[in-house]
Amino acid sequence: MRRKLAAGNWKMNGTQASLSELTTLAAHHPSAACDILICPPATLITPASQTAGPIAIGAQDCHTADKGAHTGDISASMLKDAGASAVILGHSERREDHGESEDLVRAKARSVMEAGLLAIVCVGESLAERDAQNTLDIIGGQLAGSIPDGATGHNLVVAYEPIWAIGTGKVPTLDQIGEVHDFIRARLERRFGQGVGRSVRLLYGGSVKPGNAADIFAVSNVDGALVGGASLTAADFSPIVRALEAAS
Ligand code: 13P
Repeated sequence: MRRKLAAGNWKMNGTQASLSELTTLAAHHPSAACDILICPPATLITPASQTAGPIAIGAQDCHTADKGAHTGDISASMLKDAGASAVILGHSERREDHGESEDLVRAKARSVMEAGLLAIVCVGESLAERDAQNTLDIIGGQLAGSIPDGATGHNLVVAYEPIWAIGTGKVPTLDQIGEVHDFIRARLERRFGQGVGRSVRLLYGGSVKPGNAADIFAVSNVDGALVGGASLTAADFSPIVRALEAAS
């Protein structure tokens, strides 16, 4: 059985004052029936890991190399040292803002796995790609290109985040989510074998809110969520965690 995962991506939001949200969240879920992960900005990883109790802390990006002359960058092993246990990779905002290619995302994911951390690799189509009925082709290409060999259920999570659903309040239909998640599962089984393919957790991300979480969590092959805006406060994220616990 795959343990469900409620993951929050704070993106470029949060200062020291935001740590109180983590304290509150931890107090609400001292022993949750699912994994809980919050990925704050890098500046908060260490204090967050010291205050989050049972909540795991992750990062939102890393460099491909372990160390060296790369001004402004942070390596996976440094994130681990700071208190992170997971790293989000290939988020559409990074693919777009920083021109990240499949090759780069794959190299980053490899460095995360080599550091002993969990790589959360994001895939997702644009609205134009969906309208052109290219969604599965796009997702297939992203999976093939951005996931390194050697992936397992322990070092990889895949997040399906349709770009047009991120921060927009628009959500695919449950059938559309199910179609893509079933497709991702089949592709992982084909490439890594049934045992590994079935053990990798698949998250849905894009406008997940307390009001729609339970419906999304009932979809086949949805093992949790990667939540942006609604992960910023315990008041919004806690009901999403509870909905996932109920689906566990
Ligand atoms: P929202 O939940 O704000 O739509 O963001 C989703 C996301 O991009 C998580 O990585």
